[in-house]
Amino acid sequence: MAILLKNGSIAAENGVREADLLLQDEKIVQIGAGLKPGLDTEVIDCAGKYILPGIIDAHVHFHMPCGPSERTIDDFYSGSVAAACGGVTTVIDYVEPENDQGPLEAVAARKKEADGAICIDYGLHYVVNRWEEKLFESWEQVIDSGLASFKVFTTYDSSRLPYEDVAKLLAWSKKRGVLVTVHAEEDDIIQAAKKELTREGHLQPAYHGKSRPVESEAAAVKKIIALAGETGSRVYFVHISTCEAAQLIGQAQKEGKQILGETCPHYLVLGDEVYAGADPQWYIMCPPLREKEKQPFLWSALKEGVFSVVASDHCAFSKEQKGRSRTFFETLSGIPGVETLLPVMYAYGVAPGQITMTRLVELLSTNPARLFGLYPQKGVIRTGSDGDIVVFDPQKEVELSYHRLHSKAGYSPFKDMHVKGCPEITVLRGKVIYRGEQFCGAKGYGKFVPGRI
Ligand code: URP
Ligand code: ZN
Ligand code: ZN
Repeated sequence: MAILLKNGSIAAENGVREADLLLQDEKIVQIGAGLKPGLDTEVIDCAGKYILPGIIDAHVHFHMPCGPSERTIDDFYSGSVAAACGGVTTVIDYVEPENDQGPLEAVAARKKEADGAICIDYGLHYVVNRWEEKLFESWEQVIDSGLASFKVFTTYDSSRLPYEDVAKLLAWSKKRGVLVTVHAEEDDIIQAAKKELTREGHLQPAYHGKSRPVESEAAAVKKIIALAGETGSRVYFVHISTCEAAQLIGQAQKEGKQILGETCPHYLVLGDEVYAGADPQWYIMCPPLREKEKQPFLWSALKEGVFSVVASDHCAFSKEQKGRSRTFFETLSGIPGVETLLPVMYAYGVAPGQITMTRLVELLSTNPARLFGLYPQKGVIRTGSDGDIVVFDPQKEVELSYHRLHSKAGYSPFKDMHVKGCPEITVLRGKVIYRGEQFCGAKGYGKFVPGRI
């Protein structure tokens, strides 16, 4: 069955234009004015609606192990249902090898968890959590198997890679062309802040923000930019939360360095006052939320191109999981967000004129596709590309409370927000997977999409 989307405004990388769009055999097959349906074609009237390329959330953690017996609450099925209902047709998750696991074995294990469960397409980033030269050959094979980006952490006991190893990885990545993504928080600053808070007896979740101060992000970003400068490597910083780090990234870009940045909706719209509220544990994520007063600077960085991508960092835990510990040290870190990524960015970005619709499409679809090797199969409305489409209603008002959302977290950090504008239909490779506020896709329909360098 083909699908003909008529009378919509196609918002793509090169602007917004009125045209019809025909999807057939998983692909976009025709774009133009006055297209006529053939036999066996469903016609969808999109008058007054935007047609966007499917959203690519480049940073999610579905079914992520955290310690020996804990996982994030959204597995590949529930996480991808939530994604589909938010207009997301592709997610990029992580492979984080266990100590005794070889790289290819870890990739295969992660794919096994996703395949058969996930209902949207997915890619994977590979986490380098130890440096051993004997792993080079396997890393080559990891890249050849379709993982176009590696990730390192400068914090977290279980995953932190020392800076000297990050430097070696950056040098290797330059030769191999793989993009290195970095979680940048300076661990020494965090440890010192934690020590001080412990001394003061301030261990409650309300103190989470204070345990990971602004300087910790800025210091790590500064060090990594310096290392990247030495080797001329490309670096992509994930989940940037502070103006200070954004400024450093912008400055490096002006100097011609290949430094890229990602931020998340929560840093753009939620402020650190929630840590003084009733449920601070619900807002524990790393890095933490920052002062609301500084958000205009992050929005400017978004407009000016300092950030190339906005991603959700969906890392959902249930209220029960979040509430289990009385200290910020032990509270599981991460929040849900894959389903709210597009509506929040439309309502707070496009509707008030902070960014254009074209910029939104770049940030949420085209740029992640390009940077992670999925373009032009994904991230663009073009004949021959996958039929991944969102029909977006800019007028429909919704409340972003957990009752409407599909994550198993059972709460939404965006709970008090009533937004105007939300996905009405999501199409993945020519099949409608969300319509009329109902998920209508199929478990296991999602496929691994290799990222190509
Ligand atoms: O707190 C967060 N962001 N949890 C997810 C893991 C990470 O650091 O991205
Ligand atoms: Zn991170
Ligand atoms: Zn993350």
